[in-house]
Amino acid sequence: MKNILITGGAGFIGSHLVRHMVNKYPSYNIINLDALTYAGNLSNLRDIENNPNYRFVKADICDYEKILDIFRTFNIQGVIHLAAESHVDRSIKDPFAFAMTNVMGTLSMLEAARTHWNAKGGMEGKMFYHVSTDEVYGSLEFDDSLFTESSNYDPHSPYSASKASSDHFVRAYFHTYGMPVKLSNCSNNYGSYQFPEKLIPLFINNIRNNRPLPVYGNGENVRDWLYVEDHAAAIDLIFHRGKAGDTYNIGGFNEWKNIDLIKLLIKVTDKALGRPEGTSLSLINYVTDRAGHDLRYAIDAAKLSKELGWKPSLQFEEGIEKTVKWYLENGEWLDNVTSGDYQKYYEEMYLKR
Ligand code: NAD
Ligand code: TYD
Repeated sequence: MKNILITGGAGFIGSHLVRHMVNKYPSYNIINLDALTYAGNLSNLRDIENNPNYRFVKADICDYEKILDIFRTFNIQGVIHLAAESHVDRSIKDPFAFAMTNVMGTLSMLEAARTHWNAKGGMEGKMFYHVSTDEVYGSLEFDDSLFTESSNYDPHSPYSASKASSDHFVRAYFHTYGMPVKLSNCSNNYGSYQFPEKLIPLFINNIRNNRPLPVYGNGENVRDWLYVEDHAAAIDLIFHRGKAGDTYNIGGFNEWKNIDLIKLLIKVTDKALGRPEGTSLSLINYVTDRAGHDLRYAIDAAKLSKELGWKPSLQFEEGIEKTVKWYLENGEWLDNVTSGDYQKYYEEMYLKR
């Protein structure tokens, strides 16, 4: 496989994956397909945008004809599909957008792959890798249970319901059409270039600007956090060495209660800003809970480590320090994203060429 289509490559995880693949595999042609929704930001990829093995194509995954045309133009042999609506709070306000992109968009990607690959002699040597979330498994109690690859699907939010549905479609293409597919379900990611609507970048930005920190409910909900570059490395490993038809859970065995994580963020950010320890604790503001707020997520990543030898590279405290430092040193990135200026980057850098 040489011609690899990565969807959602202008987003948070996608931009890390595109950078990783472009730098690590100079003999591949990496095609980044993204609709540049509010969550897509091409300036995330400034450092690799002129590499000879990288191309950007603006397209909506729901536009089947255009997607098929892209498969034909670049003779796509492998797909790593990340494009999605990804924020739970938005899914509560606008579930249609999630069903459209995450379900119908994934179906349109699968159908374009099937049509093109059949026309090129069949499925041999092709791969459709679907990137999914642990949220499809629903919510755990406050005990020591973990999500495994055989946990039942039990999604609770419109976001997780749409991702669960897309996972089912991908597996249906494996069973019905013999399409080689792989899936991974990962825990919460953190790191640079994450849109500041998600907990960690939102709170760093608010601490930086002395704004309130809205803690949903009692702050006791638990999430399992993984550094985004470790997720990108795991996707690379599974794409190349995972078994076709299989699913891999990805996570760093790193559970944190929201309120404990928020206190750590405050400590690290205050220190980096040269403020006395605990200054920003007063910004904590308990607000009405998210509707249907899942209590606890926790991933059992034993299969990935046993079968493919993967392990996370960073301890959480170290990852959080790196992440806080990155957002504080890239205040302009945060300001551009929150003001909407980042959306001009595509026009300035691409349309004028
Ligand atoms: P993100 O919201 O930062 O990025 C999504 C990208 O998809 C954006 O660049 C956006 O422009 C693009 N996109 C959205 N709709 C599109 C469409 N119709 N056509 C083409 N492009 C479109 O998301 P993220 O956090 O980077 O997540 C990427 C993937 O990983 C998603 O599939 C998500 O479900 C999954 N995931 C995320 C996490 C996490 O913690 N963020 C954890 C596990 C799995
Ligand atoms: P989020 O980053 O939205 O990821 P997800 O909902 O996919 O896990 O939220 C992480 C946790 O933080 C989740 O339990 C909800 C909580 N949260 C807040 O308490 N306040 C906030 O402003 C946000 C965005 C999230």
